[in-house]
Amino acid sequence: MPEQKTFYVTTPIYYPSGNMHIGHTYTTVAADTISRFKKMTGYKTYFLTGTDEHGEKIERKAGDAGMAPKAFIDGIVEETKKLWQLMHIEYDDFIRTTDERHVKAVQKIFRQLYDQGDIYKSEYEGQYCVPCEAFWTPSQIKEGNLCPDCERPTELVKEESYFFRMSKYQDWLINHIETHPEFIQPQSRANEMLQNFLRPGLQDLSVSRTSFKWGVPVDFDPEHVVYVWIDALSNYITALGYGADHDELFKTFWPAQVHLVGKEIVRFHTIYWPILLHALGLPLPKQIFAHGWLLFGGDKMSKSKGNVEYAQPVVARYGADALRYYLMREMPFGADGNYTNEAFLTRMNADLANDLGNLVSRTVAMIEKYFGGVVSAPQGYQPVDQALMNQATALPAKVEKAMDGLQFSQALQEIWHLVGESNRYIDQTQPWVLGRTEETKPRLQTVLYVLAECIRYVAVLIGPVMPTTPARIYEQLGLQDDSLKTWASLAAFGGLPAGIRVQKGDALFPRVDIAKEMEALAAEKQAQAPEPSQEEAPAAEAKPTITIDDFDKLDLRVAEVLACEKVPKSDKLLNFTLKVGEETRTVLSGIAQFYQPEQLVGKKVVLLANLAPRKIRGIESQGMILSAALDDDSALSLLTTQSDIAPGASIS
Ligand code: MSP
Repeated sequence: MPEQKTFYVTTPIYYPSGNMHIGHTYTTVAADTISRFKKMTGYKTYFLTGTDEHGEKIERKAGDAGMAPKAFIDGIVEETKKLWQLMHIEYDDFIRTTDERHVKAVQKIFRQLYDQGDIYKSEYEGQYCVPCEAFWTPSQIKEGNLCPDCERPTELVKEESYFFRMSKYQDWLINHIETHPEFIQPQSRANEMLQNFLRPGLQDLSVSRTSFKWGVPVDFDPEHVVYVWIDALSNYITALGYGADHDELFKTFWPAQVHLVGKEIVRFHTIYWPILLHALGLPLPKQIFAHGWLLFGGDKMSKSKGNVEYAQPVVARYGADALRYYLMREMPFGADGNYTNEAFLTRMNADLANDLGNLVSRTVAMIEKYFGGVVSAPQGYQPVDQALMNQATALPAKVEKAMDGLQFSQALQEIWHLVGESNRYIDQTQPWVLGRTEETKPRLQTVLYVLAECIRYVAVLIGPVMPTTPARIYEQLGLQDDSLKTWASLAAFGGLPAGIRVQKGDALFPRVDIAKEMEALAAEKQAQAPEPSQEEAPAAEAKPTITIDDFDKLDLRVAEVLACEKVPKSDKLLNFTLKVGEETRTVLSGIAQFYQPEQLVGKKVVLLANLAPRKIRGIESQGMILSAALDDDSALSLLTTQSDIAPGASIS
């Protein structure tokens, strides 16, 4: 037996600095779609996704939330996995860079590169953008030392660092890219990389940090943690067991067929990653495909900008398949596009409710009306039938070609072309006229058979994009035989057996009132916004009733602010020195966006004095200062007493 061909596809591993939005969902759905398609067409597939959990940004976010990084991340990872389940994402593995298997393998990789002289120790100085986790050279940095990507202030960082000798491999990589035109797709990205980075000359890359701890320690120099890109990129091989005792998966699936990435991380994937692999003596992935961004109001949807839409409210109302369809259909993979609820709803009405939904419901209704629900054998084909049949039989190859080029939108257009032509065929053949006389009944049998068979083709082909819709269509067609739900079953027209009994079901995709739904979605977004509760004030939900004894457990005190200052490197935290009776306490509070520290000196605040102390950014916070905040965090006010009262007074 010939060996089964393999197909390994990955998404980027996402930063769990907040919950995943529609932008992350987009890449993940694309990876799931191609993985399902390849599986359907006979490949042995492996689909990897996961989370990129180290780095200063996560360390800071967790610190701001008063949590240990791992505890902070765990909640987000759980939400992420739930989201992928909701979206019917069938990944084979979910790697977390905090997994021991990953940490160990990264340490091994780092050591090997050091031992063989590709990594050396030196000193680094440069402008660093914390949110983007990127260093910028003087020529890249924007005026005022602003980050060229997110336009926020960068910090001057000077530290001892290990460096990777990138320049050593530059000519080799240029040659690889030039001789493998499929390696970086779309092609325009390859040109960009060559022109902007490779031909001008690569600088050695700083690959370790001493300024924070939340990372994979360099095992032979534990002051250093492995800097995020070596740590993150390696996930694609560590997940397969590279560097571990059991590396069967690695042997089976490496090199990957394709890494799917957003266009902002192409450089890391097409320059650093290939060089790293080459230095390790490993083959390169066959392709890195850079897709475009989902924009929101013309701007990249992004957690750090806060202009995000989430999948959950959309899926709750219309199901995952409708959203998956929209994401894969709306914009060509590689180009940017806007996400708006209005555009989504418009397309759902047009393509899913009208085109596909009506085709299925009309066909099923006519088979019921004219043949008591039984699909009857065709009685000879006419040119109009042949024309549609030819389109159906030619479709799988067209879909495969588009899918192989990751042109999901194109593949769906091809499928919807058959849907449209089938609807047109109904208008041309006029079954309602054929149904009037007994003489034309045989002709009607043929017409309805052709339609039902075309619907079967469509159902099979949409499966990778819309995994739950085919079963609903098969049910309406009364099709049970699983062998007729496969790619192979599309080899010849006419697989649908005569004699099966259709069953009218609910509309596949009910038509919606767009204006009403937009309102409902906006309301649901408010209610369901899955931003993690670690950061945001929880919505004012009803809490359980407590007794006075419960309340008595709280030691609430009036406290006077003796001193107040910002916590270095934190956007949110203020460090308070409080007088509580005779005692002085240090308390951190995440309210820096709302107050200037000097405004607060001398103020009386309300302190929860018996909250267990906890360390935030190395400072022990001994209590909690109470404040009132709006749910969306747009306003906040510290609680105080109505008239002056001595610090230490208890509150009841
Ligand atoms: N952790 C790195 C990737 C390391 S891969 C070895 C990272 N994480 S991220 O959380 O910022 O996710 C980035 C990826 O999420 C993008 O490359 C893209 O796949 C997806 N997207 C995030 N926002 C997006 C849009 N607005 N539009 C489309 N995709 C987006 O970068």
